[in-house]
Amino acid sequence: MSEPTVVSRPAARVDALDKVRGAARYVDDLELPGMLHCKVVTSAHPHAEVHSVDVSLALASAGVFAVLTARDVPGENQIGVVTADQPLLVERRARMLADRIALVAADTPEHALEAARKVKVEYRPLPVIADTDQALAAGAARIHDSGNLLAKKQVVRGDLGAGWAAAKLVLERTFTTGYQEHAYLETNGVLAVPEQNGALTVYASAQCPFYIQKAVARVLGKDLASIRCVQATTGGAFGGKEDYPSEPAACAALLAMKTGRPVKLVYQRSEDIRWSSKRHPIRTQHRIGFDGEGRITACEVKLHCDAGAYNGLSTVVSERANASAPGPYRAENVRVDTYVVYTNNLFGGAFRGFGAPQVTFAMEAQLDEAAERLGLSPAEIRRRNLLRVGDATATGQRLPESVGALECLEKAVERSRFEEKRALLAEHNRKSPHLKKGIGLACCMYGCCLHAGGQFLEGSGSLVQVRPDGSVNVAIGGTELGQGAFTVVAQLAAEELGCELSKVHVSPVSTELVPDSGPTVASRTTVMSGNAVLDAARQIKSRMLEVAAQKLDAPQGRLEARGGDFLLAGGLRRLSFCEVAKACYERKVNLTAEGWFAPPRKEWNEALGLGEAYSVYCFATQVAEVTVDLRSGRVTVDRVTAAHDVGKAINPAALKGQVEGGVVQGLGYALMEELQLSEGKCLNPNFTDYLIPSSADAPEVEVVLVEHPWSLGPFGAKGVGEPALIPVAAAVANAVSFALGHRFDRLPLTPERVLLTLEDSRGTT
Ligand code: MOS
Repeated sequence: MSEPTVVSRPAARVDALDKVRGAARYVDDLELPGMLHCKVVTSAHPHAEVHSVDVSLALASAGVFAVLTARDVPGENQIGVVTADQPLLVERRARMLADRIALVAADTPEHALEAARKVKVEYRPLPVIADTDQALAAGAARIHDSGNLLAKKQVVRGDLGAGWAAAKLVLERTFTTGYQEHAYLETNGVLAVPEQNGALTVYASAQCPFYIQKAVARVLGKDLASIRCVQATTGGAFGGKEDYPSEPAACAALLAMKTGRPVKLVYQRSEDIRWSSKRHPIRTQHRIGFDGEGRITACEVKLHCDAGAYNGLSTVVSERANASAPGPYRAENVRVDTYVVYTNNLFGGAFRGFGAPQVTFAMEAQLDEAAERLGLSPAEIRRRNLLRVGDATATGQRLPESVGALECLEKAVERSRFEEKRALLAEHNRKSPHLKKGIGLACCMYGCCLHAGGQFLEGSGSLVQVRPDGSVNVAIGGTELGQGAFTVVAQLAAEELGCELSKVHVSPVSTELVPDSGPTVASRTTVMSGNAVLDAARQIKSRMLEVAAQKLDAPQGRLEARGGDFLLAGGLRRLSFCEVAKACYERKVNLTAEGWFAPPRKEWNEALGLGEAYSVYCFATQVAEVTVDLRSGRVTVDRVTAAHDVGKAINPAALKGQVEGGVVQGLGYALMEELQLSEGKCLNPNFTDYLIPSSADAPEVEVVLVEHPWSLGPFGAKGVGEPALIPVAAAVANAVSFALGHRFDRLPLTPERVLLTLEDSRGTT
């Protein structure tokens, strides 16, 4: 095959100009004649029986067109994507503050708010379960009839007894992490529009139009074919718009069907923070054995994951935490027990990394501590344990190819001058009383695409159409969230068709254009939508080659399509891509094709948590360099070196941006971001009290590309969206530990926590 001309080169984002010019249309920019505005009335208590709901005053309020409660749901009053445990509108029991009691539609947002305040609800408050220990305690109030243990996952492999017997060093520690808010620039927003013949269109800021289609059809009691979901330009998602937008979509859809008018629902920021899903708090109890050379002999992990009041995606996130807990290391003797627990807190869900950042923080801290005790460098202990081609993962999956773990480590260590700096910074710290410097590293692996448990969702479609003038429309089922998906598929289409990138137009994602392509999650879009586009483009190209060969009067085998031309070998005679497209049109050769990709079936033993958890893995090592001011407790991240095995970079410029963004979001998680909850109530639902990093906090980031191609990836590509964030907090925490000579077992490392921990440790020594 000849060298690619479009792929693997930096390409300008196809959505960039509209976004920077303010021309992109987000849901809040959409206006339709007669459009109404929705306001949601939520529970006043995190746990309560609902005795009565009186909407009469609200209905009589100015500008009101409808006020709906659970009784008005024509289909199933169920919104849970995995478990049918969550009503769209509560009937007799509220289990969290985000539970919806009533929906109002009015002519203006102000009128809707006014009416919402007039909905009268009588409650009988119930005891609030505010953490997983309380939830699992004997005699605890049951949040659901099935009990408070929502699910249990495990990995059971090898012989732990033999592992402990072989260990020279056993470390045992408990790590805790809190809630992280996605803080996407654009809050949740949907616009539901009644169409003719009982159909309905939902425009949504969302990751998963197919989830919305299913949820809305179920709530309205309609078939899938009458519900269309179109993705509006989406201002960030990060997992927060995976399953959650189905909820506002179903609310707006109900009101639109009831009133016969378009209904818009756009959340205020404080509503969005209080109502939508968050990164789960997870407690990780870690017991890990090492032999005298630092090799892992046994790994025993217990995870407690606070799901909140409903499952949402908690069992799926926990599945990933469960499989990721032992990290990218050779571990023969493994036991992981993961408890997914209901509480009355706001609910946990998908967030970039999906359960992996929490367990990576724990595992990487343990490796650093082991290295110190055994007199090894943090790099060396990892070098001795990292997975190679042919090794088996913690779930017993053999890796036949595409394992760049070791190269990531070596490149990150080399580019950051890790070993040299450890010595220099230790020297610096001896002389500097207030400003301490640290350097730390962390590795991770991330199963690219969906877990075996979700493989029934793992297929993706595309629709590619070459027009008579040689321009190209591409439609995919994966969504553009700001991560650069549209540019990647445009590059892949241009490369495979042999046309110029500027000829390719990517359509807004619509459930009407492509088959159900599953969710846009799990860093799977380059692989899934990318392969689906290649499949369609290949079909079209072979038809075009046949026509070009006829026109050039040459055998097809001697033709090549490149950079906008069909060339006869040697380049003596050529036809432009546009000329061939025109000839195909005139000869009535169809240049529209549907593409499809689904990876081979994975074998999975759910009872033991063993088998092919994922189709392929991405690997990374990140090195963080920090400065800690002992007077304020403030940690500054100065530099991050991020080496990522992505299989193959399709758009190296966008990939770099993904990693830079992941690093900044990860350092927010490491240092400042934590939603505060008290008795199920969020205390800081705003960006005054919930701090996220700004550009001033962004460190210098060096992205190091490591390419171990995957035979099934498009041009070898895997993914990078989530791996970019996963090791950040672990690397930062290890760097802070190096600077202070003290280990931390809780995130985030806020100035207060750093100072208090240092004071405590001084007090006790
Ligand atoms: Mo993503 S966190 O898998 O929506």
